Amino acid sequence: MRYLIAGNWKMNGSLASARTLAQGLADRRELTAKADIALCPPAPLLPAIAAAVAGSAVAFGGQDCHAAEKGAHTGDISAWLLKDLGCSFVIVGHSERRADHFETDAIVKAKASAALKAGLTPIVCVGETEAEREGGKTSAVISRQMAGSLPEASTAANTVIAYEPVWAIGTGKTATTDDIAAVHAQVRDLFAAARGNAGALRILYGGSVKGANAASILATAGVNGALVGGASLDLEDFARIILACP
Ligand code: 13P
Repeated sequence: MRYLIAGNWKMNGSLASARTLAQGLADRRELTAKADIALCPPAPLLPAIAAAVAGSAVAFGGQDCHAAEKGAHTGDISAWLLKDLGCSFVIVGHSERRADHFETDAIVKAKASAALKAGLTPIVCVGETEAEREGGKTSAVISRQMAGSLPEASTAANTVIAYEPVWAIGTGKTATTDDIAAVHAQVRDLFAAARGNAGALRILYGGSVKGANAASILATAGVNGALVGGASLDLEDFARIILACP
């Protein structure tokens, strides 16, 4: 299975930085030889990214989509438009969307379902807060999010799961490799129980992944890639993460 390293730029970047970063990745063929790469910039930058990576294996995607194909939803973006722009992926259910936009598991599931119908691979995010981890609720939270956020049409081949402990996002803290392995095993078991087969399911880890810690995280059992925030805005650090894939 090829590793997937996806960069979530969140609300960062500019037209100039998007061009430089995407072109820099596309120019370095040793990076796309090593792993599948996807850039998820703010949506207005997608056409510039598409132009910069044309002819390379660097893929790109959205950070969110609406559940509907089109309509009166001011400010929202449909999965079908992302597909039209050349996207391969869309992140759904990121903890920042769950927290800032009150997205429930049911909303995340509807968005992931729309992504699949539009021909995109949803990257469905799950993860516990610090209070939930300290309260011993990690496993219950992951079970609830997996059961509620995955559409019936999800298969190991058309869906990616990202485990992002909320307390590790943007904090410099990372889960221990034992904790990562335990949650990834749980995610794979839950997926297999619900969908019959999870051997080929890619499960990414996210939360303060950077060049300096990527090798041990990516070598952890059950980890098939990373969803990278801050470090994906720095070409050299992002390249170090990609090259750290086993
Ligand atoms: P950081 O890598 O900045 O911690 O962000 C992780 C994340 O939320 C990626 O979706």
